[in-house]
Amino acid sequence: MSEMVEVIVDKRAFNAEKGTLLIDLLIKEKIKVPYFCYHEALGADGNCRMCMVEIEGQKRPQIACDTLIKEGMEVRSTGENIEKVHTDILELELINHPVDCPTCDQAGECSLQNFYMDYGLNDSKITIPEKVKGLKKVDLGSNVMLDQERCVLCARCTRFTDKITGTHELGIIGRGDHARVSTMPGRKLDNPYAMNVVDLCPVGALTSKDFRFSQRVWFLKTVDSICHGCAKGCNIYIDHNKMKYKDDQLYRFRPRRNDEVNGFFICDEGRLSYKALQEDRQEKIVLHGKEILEEEAIKAFQTLVEKYKSNITVVIDANLYTEEIEAILDFSKEIAANVCSPLEVYIDEEFEDDMLKSANRAANSKTIENLNINSNIPDKSGLLINFNHPGEFEAELKIDFRTHQDAKTEFILPLASYVESSGHITNEDGISQYCEKALSKNDPVPTVIEWLEKVRS
Ligand code: SF4
Ligand code: SF4
Ligand code: FES
Repeated sequence: MSEMVEVIVDKRAFNAEKGTLLIDLLIKEKIKVPYFCYHEALGADGNCRMCMVEIEGQKRPQIACDTLIKEGMEVRSTGENIEKVHTDILELELINHPVDCPTCDQAGECSLQNFYMDYGLNDSKITIPEKVKGLKKVDLGSNVMLDQERCVLCARCTRFTDKITGTHELGIIGRGDHARVSTMPGRKLDNPYAMNVVDLCPVGALTSKDFRFSQRVWFLKTVDSICHGCAKGCNIYIDHNKMKYKDDQLYRFRPRRNDEVNGFFICDEGRLSYKALQEDRQEKIVLHGKEILEEEAIKAFQTLVEKYKSNITVVIDANLYTEEIEAILDFSKEIAANVCSPLEVYIDEEFEDDMLKSANRAANSKTIENLNINSNIPDKSGLLINFNHPGEFEAELKIDFRTHQDAKTEFILPLASYVESSGHITNEDGISQYCEKALSKNDPVPTVIEWLEKVRS
């Protein structure tokens, strides 16, 4: 059983588990400590020497990432002495670093830039021509670009491919000033989680080919959401921005830590799935190949529902929010429709792996199961109303609510995507999670719930 002990940090007392890392306590208690190489997912490496603290009874400063908590330990993270240590180590880190933060894509979310503002602010003793040059735009593969000059050799990226994916594509070659991150000879960075190294890199050395230089990060707004790429339900940040005279737009998905679901990471396919959410969107209401107005569409919908009464099937996409699924069930009851959500169509065995990716590509299929919704293919019906389900079904007449232009039916109504709405999904392990609305479009298309309110009126 773990033993709790008291430690003093900067004259404040804390209880911590004996034998755990001091840096974890400092991070947890939000005590400022600079660090590059430590990461909670990768453990300590002790190479950057930035996380120095003073410990009572020790002659020299110690690195917090390799110091174990002991009973009665007294730690100083601030004060003239230790700040001088941080400043000196930072100066070493910066010897060959280019002094061009304004042109770096990491500016605004760079640890080196932040620490320089906290501990540096000293003039460089090395002139620009004296700096050792590295390669500036190395395409490592998997959408990841390397700028060798910006690298602080923290080895987070190499440890990721060693410890997390076990693919070992990256290593540090050379000695001293000429040490460089590189792919192994004849290899590219190539694994389904490779883009996580971009988030792990504390500086602007690794950037995403997809995102780099598309936005300054301080313009981005961020919401908490859940990836809909499969039933794992990885937690993500959605970064979006509405530029002047333009529409609100997605710029990137990033992993959001959740130890119960995805830990620190997401897969590359999920990360890049934001693109499809703004391509080939269904934005118009189409009846018999012609665009019609919303009022006409509502009347046509109501007439068809009346005409096919008691011969209607409603099909639900297992990616919709739980609130939307429940609203469709209520509506289906009112019009005496059969309801189903065939789940077989979402199974993709090739996608699955033993890290995060699930063969079940329906983000909310658990809710379909929990609500006992029929998951078989429906028999041919008179009228089929499909709420964005990707399957093809037989019916005399079909109405499709679609987020994307992928329906070939006679009557198509546009539907808001999950980033344009909010609600819950339950992942394959039964964990219900909330997705915030990210985008507010200039011309929003209705959500499922808004459509149901309209057609009831
Ligand atoms: S590229 Fe980034 S993550 Fe990799 S060693 Fe350099 S600074 Fe660290
Ligand atoms: S594993 Fe599934 S939920 Fe997680 S990021 Fe990838 S596609 Fe999205
Ligand atoms: S974080 Fe402790 S040495 Fe790098």
